[in-house]
Amino acid sequence: MTDWESLRARAREVCAKAYAPYSGYPVGAAGLVDDGRVVAGCNVENAGYGVALCAECGLVSELVAGGGGRLVAVACVNRLGEAILPCGRCRQLLWEHGGAALEVDTPLGIQTMAQLLPQAFGPEALDHIREA
Ligand code: THU
Repeated sequence: MTDWESLRARAREVCAKAYAPYSGYPVGAAGLVDDGRVVAGCNVENAGYGVALCAECGLVSELVAGGGGRLVAVACVNRLGEAILPCGRCRQLLWEHGGAALEVDTPLGIQTMAQLLPQAFGPEALDHIREA
């Protein structure tokens, strides 16, 4: 059972650390791992605008560097502490580490990755070809 309030609180905390001088749009993301760990990240922008790292990139990096595991719940927030939707690229990142059942806090309530990224391209597409 996910404690959404503490996940949102962690996302708000890390949002305050964001480096977003170019967009002025700090983001914080926090994720619950299937072993109970909470991993988090903030966006990190760059003078080369195109190489900005989204908050979810930092979250996934902490997940993998901390030993891996499956994400079961993710909350992303803006500076006002409101739930925001992961961008398209980050939906793909989250899919890899949580799959269809991963739950995401959205402005429309809790939704699964299956809802946020229908007909996703995932690892099984590569397995399918490898095994053919
Ligand atoms: N951003 C994220 O960190 N995550 C998202 O899912 C949406 C966008 C960041 C990227 C950029 O630093 C800022 O928000 C404005 O796009």
